Amino acid sequence: VTLLARTVVPQRTLSKVRVLLEALPYMSEHLGRDVVIKAGGAALAEPHLLEAFADDLAILRKVGVRPVVVHGGGPQISALSERLGLTPRFEDGLRVTDADTLEVAKMVLVGKLNKDIVGRINRSGVPAVGLSGDDGDLLLARKRPGPNGRDLGFVGEIIGVNVPLLRTVMEAAVPVIASTGTDHQGQSYNVNADHAAAAVAGALSASKFVLLTDVPGVMRDEELVSELSAGDAQRLVAGDEVTGGMVPKLEAVVGAIRDGVERAHIIDGRVEHCLILELFTPEGLGTMVTRDVAVPS
Ligand SMILES: Nc1ncnc2c1ncn2[C@@H]1O[C@H](COP(=O)(O)OP(=O)(O)OP(=O)(O)O)[C@@H](O)[C@H]1O
Ligand SMILES: [Mg+2]
Repeated sequence: VTLLARTVVPQRTLSKVRVLLEALPYMSEHLGRDVVIKAGGAALAEPHLLEAFADDLAILRKVGVRPVVVHGGGPQISALSERLGLTPRFEDGLRVTDADTLEVAKMVLVGKLNKDIVGRINRSGVPAVGLSGDDGDLLLARKRPGPNGRDLGFVGEIIGVNVPLLRTVMEAAVPVIASTGTDHQGQSYNVNADHAAAAVAGALSASKFVLLTDVPGVMRDEELVSELSAGDAQRLVAGDEVTGGMVPKLEAVVGAIRDGVERAHIIDGRVEHCLILELFTPEGLGTMVTRDVAVPS
């Protein structure tokens, strides 16, 4: 054996170490923190995206982050409604929910999508537990008045979150929450998933609130807005550049920040591993919404 013999590590292998080193400060930053993730219908529709999402959650959980998932399922509710002969209607991005539509929403959100997500996360190697707002009165709701006094039916707004129950579940598993609410009489409500996720993020004072959607983020003149203050977000909602499903999303973000959430990110859920990209790389993704000096109420 010559003393000049050397161990040669291929660049490809070294680059794996660099990746870990680069992610390390972000991992320490998020260690033990609560991160609430809202998963949108479009981001969950494709099996490969759901698989990458579940793998991301498993990584987060394994490095000591405490993720909570809240999901909607707009496209899936609309699809089943149409198959059953109901015509979906919206007012300012909120689904008008009569008794039949409420049944369909519960079937799709609680019965189908919730279990699909839970099953997929379990298979990624960390335990997940599915909950709806009705479980343990997790999301207490009341009827939400529609825009300009119009009636939205069984659309609820959340007035309370059972935080002790949620924290108990978080000790053991990743909670996966379907966006329904309940009142004290046991009447269920369809709650916009952005608002439900915001209520959960606010109640936990989460360090991050991440919303996966089907666009790159908040768009203005066809361009991505990469950073907004909560006040800017509120002004955007008041104007007409933001419409449809982005309205409840920005309202949700503003509300969550007002309730104590540090930062919110609206990111493209169609990008594989978008969660890890956002949380563990310096570049991040999408639109970041930060607290400004004073959030007008
Ligand atoms: N300025 C804007 N920037 C980005 N998206 C916008 C804007 N104005 C309106 N939108 C619309 O908002 C939509 C996102 O909200 P949408 O409710 O459709 O999806 P989601 O909330 O991700 O999913 P789900 O409602 O199923 O949970 C975009 O697809 C886009 O059509
Ligand atoms: Mg939506």
